[in-house]
Amino acid sequence: MMRSVVIYSSKTGFTKKYAKWLAEDLSADIFDATKVTAEMLEGYDTIIYGGGLYALGISGVEYIKQMAYTISTDYPLQAIKQTCF
Ligand SMILES: Cc1cc2nc3c(=O)[nH]c(=O)nc-3n(C[C@H](O)[C@H](O)[C@H](O)COP(=O)(O)O)c2cc1C
Repeated sequence: MMRSVVIYSSKTGFTKKYAKWLAEDLSADIFDATKVTAEMLEGYDTIIYGGGLYALGISGVEYIKQMAYTISTDYPLQAIKQTCF
């Protein structure tokens, strides 16, 4: 069975609400980005990230991208880009 996880970063709660909806629909695990470690992400086939859009971009997305590289060095760069943008 494919394992999915939804990670969110949310300052005022909007993204958290959407992340919960997604995780429920997908029967996925859900983690707050501030509490997640690279080890926690091992074994997932799909990592979905959501963050509020702030003037400089999606909050926290660079941190999660680096974590994805850490756990899977052979993960295709293109796949990571498609996942995040
Ligand atoms: C300082 C600031 C900058 C923002 N910049 C943008 C932006 O550039 N584009 C946009 O669509 N929304 C922008 N927003 C709106 C937030 O993305 C939106 O409120 C979002 O729901 C926040 O999600 P969160 O509360 O889960 O972090 C901005 C909000 C704040 C407070």
